[in-house]
Amino acid sequence: MSNDNLLGIAEIADLAGVSKQAVSNWCMRYDHFPRPIQNLQSGSVWDREKIAAWVRSFNGEETHVLSFINFNGGVGTTTTAVAVAEMLAQDERKHILLIDLDPQTNATASLISEDQRAEMDRNGRTIAQLFEDRLNPHNAPKFDIEKAIAHQVSTIKDGIARLDLLPSSIRLIELEYRISMIERSGNFTANPLDILRAAIQPVIDRYDYIIIDCPPSLGTMTKNGLRISTGYVIPATPNLVATLGIYLIVDNVERFAQDIGLPIPPLGIVATKVQANNLHRQVIADLTTKRLGRFSEPGGLPQPSLFGNKIPQVVARSANVDADICTLKEKYGVAYDALHGLTLEIRQLCEKKKH
Ligand SMILES: Nc1ncnc2c1ncn2[C@@H]1O[C@H](COP(=O)(O)OP(=O)(O)OP(=O)(O)O)[C@@H](O)[C@H]1O
Ligand SMILES: [Mg+2]
Repeated sequence: MSNDNLLGIAEIADLAGVSKQAVSNWCMRYDHFPRPIQNLQSGSVWDREKIAAWVRSFNGEETHVLSFINFNGGVGTTTTAVAVAEMLAQDERKHILLIDLDPQTNATASLISEDQRAEMDRNGRTIAQLFEDRLNPHNAPKFDIEKAIAHQVSTIKDGIARLDLLPSSIRLIELEYRISMIERSGNFTANPLDILRAAIQPVIDRYDYIIIDCPPSLGTMTKNGLRISTGYVIPATPNLVATLGIYLIVDNVERFAQDIGLPIPPLGIVATKVQANNLHRQVIADLTTKRLGRFSEPGGLPQPSLFGNKIPQVVARSANVDADICTLKEKYGVAYDALHGLTLEIRQLCEKKKH
């Protein structure tokens, strides 16, 4: 760059000590990233001072946004997402926002009491209100991100200090349907896949991790979650359905990532509800050697790695509020060590990848 006051992507990367890819991600993910002052044929250029100020305030601490996703229901997606969020906050002392995008509200129900959930729903303090506002653009918006976030959540006694929740609502079922109809008719004034991204912009920098519990489908909600994700985790019970289903997830997420022009890499597959039987052993062996089903076929996509920690099937205990539970060890019982090990693996992958 001939002019010392102008910086291209490569110079910004040097200045911030990160890769060029990281700078491209910042440009696309953060509305507050400075706008280029010129778009030259050789690429965009930015004002040095503005960039330096932004990098100082950003501190190089990227918020890791992880979607937990499986198109098959009941495999332990929500349980795993909630446990990882609780352990990152409690044991790893990270600041966490869990976003529940599933109208079944299982993550919400496993982090706040039924009374609090009902009250937040009544007062429009859920993700449903955000989408409802977009469906009624002529009314004054009611959704307020600051009010919709519940602080210090968890069913363990007194909650967890650094764990926040953006709750879901059963009303999302109808809203998601209506949004998809409007989307199809092309009558949306703003991009309907950008609704969540725009809403969390004011708070994203407060968190080290945002954990998104996705519903078991690739509808508008899941796409809103993937749109802001820096990676995703696939919890899967190691059976024959998983063998088919995991490929579908990886294939669909990859295509969505290409559509929006942002990388959404898989962090890995978590074996859940694992039992000591031959079928589970065989599928885990295939996953370990990266030879699961269509992944092993010529021209198939590369299989994401299997996390070393596997979550055992445990005798189910109530996921709802239990005032007597004081620690995560008590809450997760014999699955605690595996869930905690998984949390450390996720942390290592994210924090190693940062630059
Ligand atoms: N390791 C486990 N051992 C035994 N039961 C489990 C385990 N993990 C989850 N469960 C139970 O399995 C059921 C489904 O779990 P969960 O809600 O986490 O799955 P999900 O994939 O998110 O399902 P959904 O499709 O409803 O979103 C719940 O009753 C949960 O308590
Ligand atoms: Mg779920």
